[in-house]
Amino acid sequence: MSLTVAIDGPAAAGKGTIARAVAAHFGFAHLDTGLLYRAVGRRVLDGMDPIEAAQTLRSEHFADADVLRMPDVAQAASQVAAMPEVRAALVSFQRAFARRQGGAVLDGRDIGTVICPDAEVKLFVTATDEVRARRRYEELLGKGQKVTLEEVAADLARRDQRDSGRKTAPMTPANDAQLFDTTTMSIDEAVAKAIAAVEAAQG
Ligand code: DC
Repeated sequence: MSLTVAIDGPAAAGKGTIARAVAAHFGFAHLDTGLLYRAVGRRVLDGMDPIEAAQTLRSEHFADADVLRMPDVAQAASQVAAMPEVRAALVSFQRAFARRQGGAVLDGRDIGTVICPDAEVKLFVTATDEVRARRRYEELLGKGQKVTLEEVAADLARRDQRDSGRKTAPMTPANDAQLFDTTTMSIDEAVAKAIAAVEAAQG
């Protein structure tokens, strides 16, 4: 059977962690769609035109997730993601991935609204700005990056504003999405709730 799980929400709310755990639990394929925009952003930082970078994107460009996790790449990703032509160039790859036999989990900003409006399960994962900034700060420190909590908070705030304020596919919960506020949830709790939502959809 091919079931699609759409997980959207702002950065560092926990959607990536939940998406990976749900995919592992059910044996579904997982696509972090932020990596596509980050890979385009990386190529633009290297001097390429954004539309060309999106139209000629290949999987090898988003294979090295660690390089793409840098804050400058995140900002560039958020900027190119506001361009309709960039988004359009990435749609068919994401939709084909979502239809994989055996099930797929995609996480991003517009999966439940634009990429997979018919997804059987839609989650919109949030947490307070403070908690998200602290989580991302600790994650980056753990990777050996020299950042301050203030810088991380400012980076997230800029991206949230741009990602939810853009005209094309803004970050917003689908009407039929289940809202998950992970501010006071443990990872295990959030993952268990997400697994329960998928089991409910499987019937
Ligand atoms: O999920 P992330 O933080 O890696 O995403 C990086 C940027 O890419 C994010 O600020 C907005 C953009 N993005 C998007 O517009 N649509 C998606 N489905 C995923 C990411």
